[in-house]
Amino acid sequence: MSKKIAVLPGDGIGPEIMAEARKVLDCLRDDYGVALETEHALIGGAAYDATATPFPEATLNLCRQADAVLLGAVGGPRWEALDYSVRPERGLLGLRSELELFANLRPAILYPQLAAASSLKPEVVSGLDIMIIRELTGGIYFGKPRGVHKNEQGERVGVNTLIYSETEIRRIAKIAFDIARHRNKRVCSIDKANVLECTELWRQVVVETHKDYPDVALSHMYVDNAAMQLVRAPKQFDVMLTDNLFGDILSDCAAMLTGSIGMLPSASLDKNGKGMYEPIHGSAPDIAGRGIANPLATILSLAMMLRYTFNDAANADRIERAVQQALEEGHRTSDIYSAHTIKVDTAGMGDAVVAAIRGQE
Ligand code: IPM
Ligand code: MG
Repeated sequence: MSKKIAVLPGDGIGPEIMAEARKVLDCLRDDYGVALETEHALIGGAAYDATATPFPEATLNLCRQADAVLLGAVGGPRWEALDYSVRPERGLLGLRSELELFANLRPAILYPQLAAASSLKPEVVSGLDIMIIRELTGGIYFGKPRGVHKNEQGERVGVNTLIYSETEIRRIAKIAFDIARHRNKRVCSIDKANVLECTELWRQVVVETHKDYPDVALSHMYVDNAAMQLVRAPKQFDVMLTDNLFGDILSDCAAMLTGSIGMLPSASLDKNGKGMYEPIHGSAPDIAGRGIANPLATILSLAMMLRYTFNDAANADRIERAVQQALEEGHRTSDIYSAHTIKVDTAGMGDAVVAAIRGQE
């Protein structure tokens, strides 16, 4: 039976990169009989413009029915003056929360062909393969109280709340340990336990959860040190386990190590493995509409969808091999361009990946 993917292009470069992921999907369907159907819906600023909400009921309903969600990006300067409750980001955060997508997997892998595009020396990053496991539906992103109010002196005060229950910490820690078992069996849990009580609890619960995973090595690191270590000696990490905010920040940092944030896919999973898949880069309004965005993070997100939600490792591998081949042949969008390579636009990169898939056995 055919599976359904809810496709949410969103804002900025979202529609452009999604068009390239669609080419890959169409190719898998036509050439390899992958039974996936798609249905589009609005999210973010595009949804706000059309329906006065960044997160329409129809979109939520489609995502609930669908077997997986593929999202482009949300947000842009056009909507920055809006009230928080209707900002494009609320659409994305609403989806994460409504679908209970608490486990965010952000792999940062350096493709050997891109070593020159990294901001760090090739010897520091070559072979880099980190998996960031970010808690996605809790912490300061969702904690209450929140907002800006006036205090008794009439001065404005802003407040957000960092809050985690044991259950929330335990379930994301389990995901990290389970994933580490299929990798190099090392988890580094990131916190700020020297200052924040909430993250001291985080550390304790991670240690307790670890008792069921004696085969996995656990270490802890304060987030400031982790940021430093990521740019000093990133290969020391295998799986990094983080809360919502630290994961947001550290994953952008890890992304740059791989040459470009335009390369990094992500999966956001619920407890049954149903997921939303999206590039981590955001809507990049500065380059939107120019046809120069890198579609590889979205194409690789599709590969993650096949692997994690549809248990189709063969076709996930097929896409990942095709991306490698497109890079091997020298195709580069401008974010990863270097001397002696071939500069292509967004569509050119999508075409190169499709051609590489078609050329495979
Ligand atoms: C991300 C993004 C989002 C986040 C924004 C767009 C709300 O930066 O997915 O990393 O902060 O989680
Ligand atoms: Mg982010």
